[in-house]
Amino acid sequence: MLHDSLGRRFHYLRLSITELCNFRCNYCLPDGNPCDTPKDNLSKDEIRTLVATFAKLGTSKVRITGGEPALRKDLPDIIEICKNTPGIKKVALTTNGFSLKRQIHDFKQAGLDALNVSADSLDPRMFAAITGKDTLEDIMQGIDMALGCGIQTVKLNTVMLKQFNLADMQQFFTFIKDTPVTWRFIELMQTGNNQQFFNQNHVAGDSLKNNLLAQGWQRVIAPKHAGPAQEFSHADYAGRIGLIMPYSKDFCQTCNRLRVSSQGKLHLCLFADQGLDIRHHLSANDIQGASTAISQLVAGKTAGHNLQQGFTGATQQLAMLGG
Ligand code: 5AD
Ligand code: SF4
Repeated sequence: MLHDSLGRRFHYLRLSITELCNFRCNYCLPDGNPCDTPKDNLSKDEIRTLVATFAKLGTSKVRITGGEPALRKDLPDIIEICKNTPGIKKVALTTNGFSLKRQIHDFKQAGLDALNVSADSLDPRMFAAITGKDTLEDIMQGIDMALGCGIQTVKLNTVMLKQFNLADMQQFFTFIKDTPVTWRFIELMQTGNNQQFFNQNHVAGDSLKNNLLAQGWQRVIAPKHAGPAQEFSHADYAGRIGLIMPYSKDFCQTCNRLRVSSQGKLHLCLFADQGLDIRHHLSANDIQGASTAISQLVAGKTAGHNLQQGFTGATQQLAMLGG
């Protein structure tokens, strides 16, 4: 199993397959894709080699992310490639949900096990104000279809924003009363491009956590190698709440994931200074070379990000790596 010098073990690969996105979330791509967004994404063959390499090194879960991964027409093939790789037990997808209504059955058939969809508000007008898209209703129908077609785990992601969705939090609780999804609240992270927005909108997750505990929500005991999200359940609710608090002390201690960009660079942290190029091994279908390179690079993973000090590394916006 891949591990670093601090004993953290990495069984989870987050693979970005494109930096392009068709949404303009105000905290991520307020002006849409920059014109220098790279387009020479990893091919299906390169992805096959990459996933086989990680599986050989003990990875059992792959999350496909972006940008918006469903902008690639070959996404169902990519899901299938991951799912058919010996050793990979779980294939997950993070999407803005724009194509779910049309494609969820294809994703399921290709072998998708788990789905995370961004939904920053349940009010269509607020949703449009945050994402630049008036598509909330379609996305929620897509989520219903995902639950209906037997996708094991469905999670919704909301980035908490002081000046936007914070006043509407009750709507999310009403939704999960009867719907068995995990609704995850993510603390806004500072990236290279969103400094002013960050200063105006960051909300610490602690206050929400204290409210949950006061209202009878209970922390779900996390399995041994669970990642940094904290989950809560409540007897009166079918769904769960998740909290992702990257600014909290010890967040990085439970890190269990590595990231690879759509350009074939290994990122040891979402906020690493740079991606480490392993593409030449992938293009050459060289699993042995890739696996030696990855093991050596991972040994050098640092203890934590330095977000608290405002260091955002090379990450201009999360569309580069998919959160
Ligand atoms: N801070 C926190 N979350 C973010 N996401 C994108 N950018 C940021 C940011 N700056 C979220 C998206 C999506 C997930 C992949 O990451 O909303 O839910
Ligand atoms: Fe696109 Fe996700 Fe960024 Fe929104 S947060 S603009 S959906 S990449």
